[in-house]
Amino acid sequence: MEKRQELYAGKAKSVYATDDPDRLVLHFRDDTSAFDGERMESLARKGMVNNRFNAFIMGKLEEAGIPTHVEGLLSDTECLVKKLDMIPVECVVRNVAAGGLVKRLGVQEGQELTPPTFELFLKNDQLHDPMINESLAVTFGWATAEQLAEMKALTYRVNDVLKRLFADGGLLLVDYKLEFGLFNGQIVLGDEFSPDGCRLWDAETREKLDKDRFRQGLGGVIEAYEEVGRRIGVEFK
Ligand code: C5P
Repeated sequence: MEKRQELYAGKAKSVYATDDPDRLVLHFRDDTSAFDGERMESLARKGMVNNRFNAFIMGKLEEAGIPTHVEGLLSDTECLVKKLDMIPVECVVRNVAAGGLVKRLGVQEGQELTPPTFELFLKNDQLHDPMINESLAVTFGWATAEQLAEMKALTYRVNDVLKRLFADGGLLLVDYKLEFGLFNGQIVLGDEFSPDGCRLWDAETREKLDKDRFRQGLGGVIEAYEEVGRRIGVEFK
């Protein structure tokens, strides 16, 4: 496999073509952004930590029968993935109220959500990823009803697998965002799963160990990511 030209640079990852038209290289950079890119900072080791964290989680999901785009680690900060035709819809499951839900509905942060909630957002930075629903997604052609049903089912299956994995490490999976794409017509989990795109609290103390440390200026961001990884068995350098 040969890495070729950069195709796209996102806020924290860059995507490269390869000599295989069906494969891409994801490069996890140290860049960290919040509030739609309003705040940007480089955090040492972040690319390595998130790359290894993501590969570990995607491996666990594959073991549980959930199709993901990750094919393997290429280096500390790069992994090889299937080239997906991305669906511009973000799927969010919440087990505990926090973040956007607390802001939008005025509910208590930390309130347990039973059953867990499922929300859809349009992936669009300029519009600040507005909340959408299935009807809007189908009407505007962002996804079909069948694709949305599959994405919802897979997002909940991810919850079953990861809630348990994190609980075993004394961690509470508060919420997370997933993105999916199509590979040969099949819905496959894309993007990344790392503390950048989920909320994880210490189960006992409820200390925040995710990107909220960056958003809220709490410090110790990468130390928290590494602590989470260590508790679930991710190997960092
Ligand atoms: O901000 P909100 O509470 O809606 O986010 C829910 C979850 O989805 C959080 O874990 C957040 O980190 C993640 N998220 C994300 N990317 C977005 C929006 C939300 O990773 N664009």
